[in-house]
Parts: sequence; C-alpha cells; structure tokens
Amino acid sequence: MQKHLLTTKSLSKEEIDLILQTAENFEPYARKEKRGDQLKGKVLGALFYEPSTRTRLSFETAMIRLGGDVVSVADIGTTSMGVKGETVADTAKVISNFVDIVAIRHPEVGSAEEFANNASVPVINAGDGTNQHPSQALLDLFTIKKELGKIDGLTVGFSGDLKFGRTANSLAYLLANYDVKLKFIAPKALPMKQKVKDDLNEKGVNFEETEDFNAGLSGLDVLYVSRVQKDRFTDMNEYEKLKDVYVLDRKLVEEKSPDMLILHALPRVNEIAKDVDDLKGAAYFRQVQNGVTMRMALLSMLCNL
Ligand code: NCD
Repeated sequence: MQKHLLTTKSLSKEEIDLILQTAENFEPYARKEKRGDQLKGKVLGALFYEPSTRTRLSFETAMIRLGGDVVSVADIGTTSMGVKGETVADTAKVISNFVDIVAIRHPEVGSAEEFANNASVPVINAGDGTNQHPSQALLDLFTIKKELGKIDGLTVGFSGDLKFGRTANSLAYLLANYDVKLKFIAPKALPMKQKVKDDLNEKGVNFEETEDFNAGLSGLDVLYVSRVQKDRFTDMNEYEKLKDVYVLDRKLVEEKSPDMLILHALPRVNEIAKDVDDLKGAAYFRQVQNGVTMRMALLSMLCNL
C-alpha cells in the first residue's frame, strides 16, 4: 500500500481489491453495531479549505468510531492559509507536528500532492479542485460491488458535469482495472476531461461518449449521476443554461434501464427527481453509509503502515 492516497490513477488492481476487502470488515462499525479501538491514540487532521458535508463528517465519524481523535479546519476563513497567505507546503510542515494522518480538500488542482510532498504523515486527498477525489471513488466502487455482487462485465454510464466534477473521473480510473464498458453522457460544454480519455485509451478501456441523455441511458447496469458544478463556473449565465440539462426521473429510468443501479456522490440539486428515490436501484443514500465504511478502511490502512 502506498503511503498517501492522492489519486485513483496510481492504484493497482491488487491494491484496489485489498482496500475493498478491508472495507468489508468495517461494515459493522460503520453501521454503529460495534465500536472499535483500532485507531486509538491516533489523531486525524481534517483540513477542508472548500465546502464539504459528507466527506468531512464521514472522515471524522470513521476516525472517532474507531477510537481515534480529530482536529479540523472547516472554514478556510479561519486559517493562516486563507487569511495570512501561508503556503500549502508550510501548512503541511506545521500540521505534521500535530496529527498522525491528514485528509485535505483544497480548491487547487495538485494541492493535496503538494501537501503530501511536504508532510511527514500520510495524506488523503479529499478533493483537489476539479482533479481527484479518491476516497469517494473507492466508496463508489465498493457500493457497486456490494449492490451488484461484481464489477467485471458491467456497463457503467456517467452523466452530467464531467468537465468540472472530480468524482466521475476518479471512479473511471478505478473501473479501468476491470473488464467494464464505460459511457460518458455529457453536454458538449461539459465533456469528460481529454487527459482522462487519453489515459483510458492508453489502458485499452472500452468507452463511448454521447450528448444524448435519453439514448445514453439504454443498456446501463450502473448510472453515476453528477451535479453541474455551480461552484466552478465563472459565468453564471452559462451555469443557468446548463444546470438542468439532464434530469433523471422515474419514467425515464423505467423506460430505459429499469434495473440499473443509480449512484450520486451528492449533494443532489435537480439532476435526479425525487420520484427516483424509492426505486430499488436508487442507491445514493446507501452509498453515503459506505463512505464511513471506506474511510474507516483507508484511515486504518494508512495509519498502520
Ligand atoms: C462531491 C465533491 O465534492 O466532489 N461531493 C462529495 O464529496 N460527496 C461531488 C459534488 O460536490 O458534486
């Protein structure tokens, strides 16, 4: 296992399978049936320089339920990095004195790597701008395996904002290690990043692209829905034009792929209608619990290296 978790791109299939396996052992703890002490004496630094609800709270929950402690930054406006101009590198050197492991979210691409290069403790990238969000992708993959019992042989669609979103590409890199077909369903203005497509091509991954949401939904085993990332737009008129470009509703699911598993990293805005929520395949709220499970696995694996 690598010292840090910065990107899904560098994980081998063996590492991914080991992480998925380890996560299974933590399910009773995440379900609150058991309280553990695997991380007793360890302190997590949860450094969130960008908004977060699930990711920060699930990292903190995972740490605390395994007996560890947490110190956190939940508002960049209270930090020396945000207010006084302290660099990412200096912050990493300082925080390494306080904690045993760090989960960092920061708006700049590459910030988690920069932090890790200057830290003496393991670092988990909890989202660096539009680039990567590996713990999310691992919990997404864990959810697919848990819900469908397999990964090989699946056709997985990704819909919505694939340009600014960081979760879809992070998951695509993980899936690239399996025998899957990928379908990127995005409006012309928000396509999957070219670099990701180049990497997938290089790995020989079978993928296609379409702008046609309705047609794209046919034949899917899994649909991974992404919100249009309002927070990344500089032109709000452009956002207004795109925000409701695809809306998945119950009728569409029943018409196109009634049995498909529907995932979403959340928060949801308008891209999934509420009438989808009680369909059997709507797994996005179950997915959230897997976030605690997966973060328990990652924290204990990286803390105990
Ligand atoms: C995602 C993120 O922050 O990238 N949310 C999350 O971590 N659960 C997706 C999003 O904000 O759309």
